[in-house]
Amino acid sequence: MTSQAPIGIFDSGVGGLSVLHDIHRLLPHENITYIADSQHAPYGNRSTHFIQKRSLELTQALIDKGCKLIVVACNTATTEAIQHIRDQVDLPIIGVEPAIKPAARYSKNRKIGVLATQRTTDSKRIRELIELYADHCEVSLQACPGLVEIIESNDQPTNLHLLENYLQPLLEKDIDALVLGCTHYPFIREQIEQIIGNDITIHETGKPVAEQINRVMQQANLANKKTKIGTITIYSSSDSTDSHTTISKLWPNPAILKNLNEEEPKHD
Ligand code: DGL
Repeated sequence: MTSQAPIGIFDSGVGGLSVLHDIHRLLPHENITYIADSQHAPYGNRSTHFIQKRSLELTQALIDKGCKLIVVACNTATTEAIQHIRDQVDLPIIGVEPAIKPAARYSKNRKIGVLATQRTTDSKRIRELIELYADHCEVSLQACPGLVEIIESNDQPTNLHLLENYLQPLLEKDIDALVLGCTHYPFIREQIEQIIGNDITIHETGKPVAEQINRVMQQANLANKKTKIGTITIYSSSDSTDSHTTISKLWPNPAILKNLNEEEPKHD
């Protein structure tokens, strides 16, 4: 495996672009290949079997494109499928999990809110994270059905009302820390801030994940040489032009945009 090989990232859709943003900022010389599985978003109401099968297929697609390390840039797929992928793939696999640990460390009143998909708020893993890092805190979990769809369709400003419904119960709990437990949500951070004001600290996972990737690559001698800015290639599994429009809006930096399903067949 050469250090010039790309870092592979996938998400149920465009959410992982928020993680791509942090990875590219910390590691600008890395080539990156991203797959948005927008044809199948949201994963939040899919079965564990589906998420595991699809996550493995996307991992394999990234391996076929020569990736040296895989980032599961989706909290839901990390919870449901990361072990399944690690059991079958012999590459470093890095996942994302809600930032409960830093939120618990920095919360002054020990009242934390978590926004995430229904599958993540219902998961065994989130209960483990709370027990491990926040057993001294009051943690309020808020599932947000519909938000991923809004972000995928880029229909954000018109749907503040739904967001208010999800944030209101957390505001009533007097939280001073809010965890964005889905990689799509950083794209509506401004709208969230408009509702919660300045006194609540927002915690995301992109930066710590980028730092973890850096550590793993240094240890495995996989970091690319700092000679030129890396190439970003973004695939979507959705044929709709909406998907490409959303991607272009969320990732305005120059990137190569491709349709995953129109790839030429592989030859041996
Ligand atoms: N970005 C995914 C996450 O972090 C969204 C999951 C979904 O598609 O429901 O959980």
